[in-house]
Amino acid sequence: MATSLSDLTTTVESALSSLPPSDKIEDAERMRLLGIINQLQTALEPPLLSIQRLCFSHYGIVAVRVAQGMGVFDSFVEAQGTEMTLAELSSKTKGDEALLKRIMRYLCAHHIFKETTQNTYQPLPLAMIFGTGSVPGDMIKHFHTNLQVTAKMFEYFEKNGYKNPEDLNDAPFQLAYNTRDTYFEWLQKNPTEQQVFNSVMTESLQYCGKDWFNIYPVPEKLKCSPSRVLLVDIGGGVGHDIIAFRKQFPELPGKLVVQDLAHVIDDIQEPLPDSITAVAHNMFDPQPFRGAKSYYMRTVLHDFPDRQVVAALSRIREAMAEDSILLIHEHTVPEGPNMPPLAATLDLHMMEIFSSLERTEEQWIALLEKAEFKVNKIWKDQSNAHHTALFEATL
Ligand SMILES: C[S@@+](CC[C@H](N)C(=O)[O-])C[C@H]1O[C@@H](n2cnc3c(N)ncnc32)[C@H](O)[C@@H]1O
Repeated sequence: MATSLSDLTTTVESALSSLPPSDKIEDAERMRLLGIINQLQTALEPPLLSIQRLCFSHYGIVAVRVAQGMGVFDSFVEAQGTEMTLAELSSKTKGDEALLKRIMRYLCAHHIFKETTQNTYQPLPLAMIFGTGSVPGDMIKHFHTNLQVTAKMFEYFEKNGYKNPEDLNDAPFQLAYNTRDTYFEWLQKNPTEQQVFNSVMTESLQYCGKDWFNIYPVPEKLKCSPSRVLLVDIGGGVGHDIIAFRKQFPELPGKLVVQDLAHVIDDIQEPLPDSITAVAHNMFDPQPFRGAKSYYMRTVLHDFPDRQVVAALSRIREAMAEDSILLIHEHTVPEGPNMPPLAATLDLHMMEIFSSLERTEEQWIALLEKAEFKVNKIWKDQSNAHHTALFEATL
């Protein structure tokens, strides 16, 4: 017998009250349940509600960005999360009280704050993480910048006759920001955006499953003499990934190198551990560290169309010794039904900024082979709920 909607509502309500604390939930389980809730919502929603959801979803990031600009989140962080009346908040923030009230109304309606009594606001957990300098706060700034690009996609395709973008210098990004620079060249000329980007990258794989070195048998595969370079992390940003690697394997012999564009390397704030050297290097130039035991890249190549990927891989191949290993840690997009919405969205994001794409495992293998590598094995965490893979390749 079919469950009545009222029984279902009671079941969901009781599930809500018996939910374990968020930090006690395994990621794979969380994703599975969220997937089901998503399906439930889709099945329940009449078309008008689905259309509203589609049409109005972008206001969220804009309202948070405006609240950041007014200083709302910083005020609550400074007040250590205590409730504030509208008048109190207004005295600590920029702009008109009438505007503040409207922004707060939106944020309360979207569970970022709670209006405990009229015009009195209590920050909910999300509200306390959007302050200046926080990675979540920087994510909002970064994707708000990207929103200007997303808004130009339709105009871009109307102009180009709906051709699949393949030119790194001619994506919707260039139309939106009226430039011929690549995104990374543009970042270099916009240091605030660059800093925000670097910050976002430090946690970009937080929900992408295990670290690569917990999937890959590092002690068995990455053996080398203390004087040799053990691992070169190309496009390694400000070194967050290689620092985590060193923490996990403090005794592993060999030197570690993190490479990125000069202005990214210059943004490294904390001194790196002694065994890690940071070097400015453009991956399209000849690789200065020749014969390293391994060369590693995490989510760098997905920012580039095929032509540039093959060019960057060729620079690595030329530097490799017979026993060197190439490790490419990337997002993979599955084929066929049950496409994860995030993977499909990131694919459009790669397209709008870089004329690039999220690739299937087969596409990654084909690209590696085109660059004359032999793919030995693809390593994944067991559930692969996050659709990332570590491609191990050799000459
Ligand atoms: C998506 S981020 C990934 C950063 C880091 N590997 C991670 O997983 O957090 C891409 C990185 O590639 C770097 N990059 C872009 N073009 C590059 C180039 N031509 N040579 C070296 N690094 C480059 C960017 O500066 C950025 O740090």
